[in-house]
Amino acid sequence: MQTHDIRRRFLDHFVRAGHTEVPSASLILADPNLLFVNAGMVQFKPYFLGQEEPPYPRATSVQKCVRTGDIDEVGITTRHNTFFQMAGNFSFGDYFKEQAIGFAWELITKSQEQGGYGFDPERIWVTAYESDPEAAELWQRIAGMPAERIQFRDGKDNYWDMGVPGPGGPCSEIYYDRGPAYGREGGPVADEDRYIEIWNLVFMQDIRGDQSPKQGHPPIGTLPKKNIDTGMGVERIAMLLQGVENVYETDLLRPIIAEAEQLTGRSYGADAGDDVRFRVIADHARSSAMLISDGVNPGNDGRGYVLRRLLRRIVRSARLLGAEKPVMAELITVVSQLMAPSYPELGTDFRRIETVAVGEETAFLKTLSTGSTLFDTAVTEVKAKGSSTIPGSEAFTLHDTYGFPIDLTLEMAAEAGLSVDEAGFRSLMAEQRQRAKDDAAARKHAHADLSVYKELIDRGATEFTGFAELTSEATVLALLADGVRIPVASEGQQVEVILDRSPLYAESGGQIADRGSITATGLRLRVDDVQKIAKKLWVHKGTVEQGAVTEGDVVLAQADPAWRRGATQGHSGTHMVHAALRQVLGPNAVQAGSLNKPGYLRFDFNWQGQLSEQQRADIEAVSNDGVGADFPVNTFVTDLTEAKRMGALALFGENYGSEVRVVEIGGPFSMELCGGTHVQHSSQIGPITLLGEASVGSGVRRVEAFVGLDSYRYLAKERALLAGVASSLKVPSDEVPARVEQLVERLKVAEKELERNRTAAVLASAATFAERAERVGSVLLVAAAAPAGIGGGDLRTLATDIKGRLGSEPGVVVLLGNADGKVPFVVAVNKPAQELGVKAGDLVASFGPGIAGRGGGKPEMAQGSGSDPSGIEAGLAAVRGRVGELAG
Ligand code: ALA
Repeated sequence: MQTHDIRRRFLDHFVRAGHTEVPSASLILADPNLLFVNAGMVQFKPYFLGQEEPPYPRATSVQKCVRTGDIDEVGITTRHNTFFQMAGNFSFGDYFKEQAIGFAWELITKSQEQGGYGFDPERIWVTAYESDPEAAELWQRIAGMPAERIQFRDGKDNYWDMGVPGPGGPCSEIYYDRGPAYGREGGPVADEDRYIEIWNLVFMQDIRGDQSPKQGHPPIGTLPKKNIDTGMGVERIAMLLQGVENVYETDLLRPIIAEAEQLTGRSYGADAGDDVRFRVIADHARSSAMLISDGVNPGNDGRGYVLRRLLRRIVRSARLLGAEKPVMAELITVVSQLMAPSYPELGTDFRRIETVAVGEETAFLKTLSTGSTLFDTAVTEVKAKGSSTIPGSEAFTLHDTYGFPIDLTLEMAAEAGLSVDEAGFRSLMAEQRQRAKDDAAARKHAHADLSVYKELIDRGATEFTGFAELTSEATVLALLADGVRIPVASEGQQVEVILDRSPLYAESGGQIADRGSITATGLRLRVDDVQKIAKKLWVHKGTVEQGAVTEGDVVLAQADPAWRRGATQGHSGTHMVHAALRQVLGPNAVQAGSLNKPGYLRFDFNWQGQLSEQQRADIEAVSNDGVGADFPVNTFVTDLTEAKRMGALALFGENYGSEVRVVEIGGPFSMELCGGTHVQHSSQIGPITLLGEASVGSGVRRVEAFVGLDSYRYLAKERALLAGVASSLKVPSDEVPARVEQLVERLKVAEKELERNRTAAVLASAATFAERAERVGSVLLVAAAAPAGIGGGDLRTLATDIKGRLGSEPGVVVLLGNADGKVPFVVAVNKPAQELGVKAGDLVASFGPGIAGRGGGKPEMAQGSGSDPSGIEAGLAAVRGRVGELAG
């Protein structure tokens, strides 16, 4: 049975049982605790926690998951993949244990003709949480499971939570016995290779705190309702139903290995070491494509770093398998073809996915060779020092700057007959990891703080009135200072005010918060920021400027009208620039982020390489044409499917509810899902001026722009600058470019002329130097300070010229210059002098230390530079002494 079929049967089974089919959430769903979505339940978390009302009592999904805990283990064991699909059914306070067990049993054991998976019931084993005898009884009653095939386990195995504070519960796991060929008798407790886990049923009822019940710490609370969360491993079912040894041999992974065989010329199954590399390639290629599809770009931290690591491991593994050419395009093509039937975006978005992956491969192939050069230098240095160990710091630089995995460095070192200070490397890595951990801890803290708002969230959402009015009457629901509830805040105090309704826009969707005020008789509070908590509560942050505010007060909340006008221009301007970008660059220019505020906007998008001057100009022109067209702006609410059908653009990673707000500017010109505030007609945006374009990470570009009067102010300033330049040059503004070009040309000619004169002057002095040559023993010696300001090249020309003038007698020329605080020097020795035993390099040793200089060369010519001009005189005397010794 093909994987796509397994997936479909699961969804159909649960839809028939009254579940709503919900599409997989993006892998990068916004959750402060998670790098990637790692379970089917993640998108439903607010429903379990009771923060949001579920739109359906039961749901089913097949969720894309990425787990990257042990990337290094991938391919070495064959049970784990970084990317996998988790099929699940969910009950939000609807059914519980009994039905969950019934549904699972039915699907597993029903015949394939009837839409099930047709597993032999005799081969199924289950486990239950040690203090959950009820689950075991239900298995016996519903599935007729004999007691000897039910095993109890402790929290480590049979308690499930997200690995972070949040929902959790005891679970019951379903296993399939692959038979004696695969390991020992005795059920899952004895051997998890033979008895392979296929499905986990979680009886979601607790709130887990900082410590997990997995380690015996009691939960910190109970969820409002009893829920069900299950996860079935689609790849593992495929492995069993396709009768293959491991997940890498299933229909969605084996063809990637086959492609890698083609590309490298080696065969899978011939060598254990090679096989690990083949599996790494298959696993990582698929995970990378899925991550890029969901908007991740390679980078140096967070999600981007994980993707970078995956992609680089592919490149390196292919190299080690003997590939000499790039492999990424071919691998990504195969992955797309395999995955598109379940994930059509892998097909429709193929070009972008390919571009990002290939871009990273190209980049790594570049650092791979620079890194190799660095490595070779390190090897030479280590050997010169008589050591046999490459320092940990070198390995770390190779890892950190050149993206060299440590095992690559280890292999290369072994080839050179050296070892690597691994302990040093690991300690540098540990320091780096600690920094990452501190970062994660800071994020967890933000999560814990939410508990202060819990009770308020339960009372209901703040009503946003700001689409219709700028001033609203409201009641103060709560006041907080430094994260703690307070009854009253008085003059001078900084406070967070939570209102039951508010016209102030809370920061979201790239639009920054409104500024405004909260007033009542005797009270004036300035609002500087507004943030949403749990998508529900408006928290107004500000300072009490006059009087005092008390919980329960009825107040007037007001958004600053001028600020709001500017903000709407900024946000609508962002939509115009987005639309223009797509018109000019095509649909691959996918939004990666944005920020807008009064007068200014910036927009990040996925794109490889710099925009041309022409593209920038076109984007600006299309945006402003849209402004000039005075398009009407319409906003309306519809359901997500309908909005997508109409072509509205949605943002990667955003978890939209079933109802969405669409903002349409000029019909097809621009249509986006957006909760922001907008102008009514596009002309109200005013002129849009692009400021520039830059890279903000690998494959992501940023454009910035001014809008409205800020555009005008910016252009006025530019005009004044140009006028200033024109007046200095004494030409009209439009002649400035030609005049500047002319001046640059003249400057070049003048510089060349100057250069010629200087060389002539230098050479003219050569005769004088030669005339003043002194005789030291049998040698004619010119040891002199060169004219000030003469640099390296000229100095050498001069020395060579003087040497030529000394004729056929033994001759030595030593010139010490003095230019910009440096002491450039040249030593020239003619053939007869060399025959007397005078060598240029030896002479450097006599004056070098005195001028703090270094340099060297051949017997006939040495040059270099020092940094202490005070040593010049003594240096020249030392040269005379030395020549005397050699030629005396
Ligand atoms: N959430 C459960 C798991 O990931 C089903 O195993």
